[in-house]
Amino acid sequence: MPVPFIDLRRFEPGFPERWAEKCAEVSAQTRFVGGPDVAALESSLADQCEIAAVVGCANGTDALQLALRAAGVGPGDLVLLPDATFWATFEAVVNCGARPVTVDIDEADLAMDFELFRQAVERYRPKAAMLVHLYGWGSARLDDFRRFCRERELPLIEDAAQAYGVRWRGESIFHGARLATLSFYPAKVLGACGDAGAVLADDTELAETVRRLGNHGRTSHYEHGLVGWNSRLAGLDAAYLSLCLEYLPERLDSRRRAAERYRRELDELDLRTVAPPAGYVENGYLNVNLIDPDRRGEVEATLRRNGIGFGNTYPGAMSKQPGAAGYLEAAVGGERADRLARSVLNLPLFAHITDDEIDEVVAVMRQAVPAKTAT
Ligand SMILES: Cc1ncc(COP(=O)(O)O)c(C=O)c1O
Repeated sequence: MPVPFIDLRRFEPGFPERWAEKCAEVSAQTRFVGGPDVAALESSLADQCEIAAVVGCANGTDALQLALRAAGVGPGDLVLLPDATFWATFEAVVNCGARPVTVDIDEADLAMDFELFRQAVERYRPKAAMLVHLYGWGSARLDDFRRFCRERELPLIEDAAQAYGVRWRGESIFHGARLATLSFYPAKVLGACGDAGAVLADDTELAETVRRLGNHGRTSHYEHGLVGWNSRLAGLDAAYLSLCLEYLPERLDSRRRAAERYRRELDELDLRTVAPPAGYVENGYLNVNLIDPDRRGEVEATLRRNGIGFGNTYPGAMSKQPGAAGYLEAAVGGERADRLARSVLNLPLFAHITDDEIDEVVAVMRQAVPAKTAT
């Protein structure tokens, strides 16, 4: 039985009909850009994320640029970011005219290494820093990052494109963040019906700057207090996201159960299925396995032969991307992000994946990977 890496069509009973009704309503009233659907979504997200304000925008990459610009980042500034992330984090810095400094990761939680980060702040005196919650959980040192940045008045932007629904010490991961960003790309845990994103801010003034930047710097309809651009959220996307929020608890539950099952079932094999650090409840965005890079190709070939989808999130460190040349100010640390990129293998995981599908994936993995040897 083939199992796709991701299947976005596992709708709950009644969901397609409710969405069709919503579409008809929004369309009949031409609530296409901004408006009540966007306002309602922003308010629900702020409640769920336990943060003061949320501003919807066009996509997660724009959300990063809006947050960086609102934090005062501009031409010539330096910005720190982890070497293991999606290229958008790097791009956003460059598109603000700033220069990225990548920082290597901690191999325990796969997030930016806090000690290296601290040294990099001392050495490079950046204008802002970015932390990425990449795999469905956050850094084990999240408190340290936030405290350190707060003490130095260094804006910390948390790229949470892949972290909607993550809980940390009984609260939303966003509780206590200064600025964070979301992507609602359809394949995310909370995905829209097109590209969409949001910026989360812990104070309403900062949020107002974000809103202005994403709406041509408007101070009134034809007065522009800032040079921004157009990054507004569409009404249909907002309506779709609000509907998805109603189903999110069951989707998260299904993802978390699948992530946990993979951890349990693959434990006997000669690989590492990464678990979130203590204190986190993951959102089940991804199953993350680390395999000897010399063996990964063979494992992938077996998966492919058996019709099992897989991913490598992400297959290259930022500092080694061909597009980084000419922009990268420095790469701090060693080769851990690169090793991660060469080792990571993600198995099928999506809301409402079935037990039979997981059984199938596990059976093929048992053929592909030897058992751990007793030590
Ligand atoms: C970590 C991370 N940051 C930023 C983005 C960019 O989001 P978008 O595709 O909505 O622009 C993504 C999307 O995949 C991401 O994974």
